[in-house]
Amino acid sequence: MKDVIIACDFNGEKELFDFLEQFGSYRPFLKIGMELFYATGSVMVRELKKRGHKIFLDLKLHDIPNTVKKAMSVLSSLDVDICNLHAAGGTEMMKYAIEGLTRKDGTRPLLIAVTQLTSTSQETLNNELLINHSMADTVMHYAKNALSAGLDGVVCSPLEAEKVKSVCGRDFVTVTPGIRFADSEKGDQVRIADPAFAKSNSDFIVVGRPITKAKDPLNAYLRCVKEFI
Ligand code: C5P
Repeated sequence: MKDVIIACDFNGEKELFDFLEQFGSYRPFLKIGMELFYATGSVMVRELKKRGHKIFLDLKLHDIPNTVKKAMSVLSSLDVDICNLHAAGGTEMMKYAIEGLTRKDGTRPLLIAVTQLTSTSQETLNNELLINHSMADTVMHYAKNALSAGLDGVVCSPLEAEKVKSVCGRDFVTVTPGIRFADSEKGDQVRIADPAFAKSNSDFIVVGRPITKAKDPLNAYLRCVKEFI
């Protein structure tokens, strides 16, 4: 199940398809976020699936349970492989999401939760969100909520993945962004790890700029695969 997922943070379809042309017959697992999905929609997702890519549709749903259930049912019909939501929506919402995702034949995409955004500081957590716990405890508590609602895993930092596995079990899936080669630039990421480090406790690594901005993206992708898998 381990795989390298390329974060396709592109402005539009043309840029995405030009990028993918450099991969020849390779069909990497792709993460499509809000920006690209809102611009290009389900037509583009269907086209990528038709070409043989697996898709992590990173739309981070967060609404009342019934709305999330109905939205997840639409996303599931796109035949994507991973979807996600905010665990902050609560256990009931997460259970409804699974119901919505589950297809008539019983199959469904993996469903993973965002615990706390990495852009949220301890100060914001305490003073704005009025959550009077440490960030680490809050993240683990939300991960446990996701587990008890029946979700498959969480998005987390590669540095948190070992703790998540020890709290929620080895089978609980960890999807980890914040990946950089040992010898490359960090960019705006702070808590990073290289693919080889992520190997022991990450099921999927999400890699954006180290591949998308590389001189030779296919070579960078293959390096990630070699170091991670
Ligand atoms: O370019 P880079 O490798 O930093 O891209 C990482 C991807 O993972 C981006 O799409 C970013 O939005 C996403 N992400 C992240 N940290 C999180 C959640 C998602 O970097 N906590």
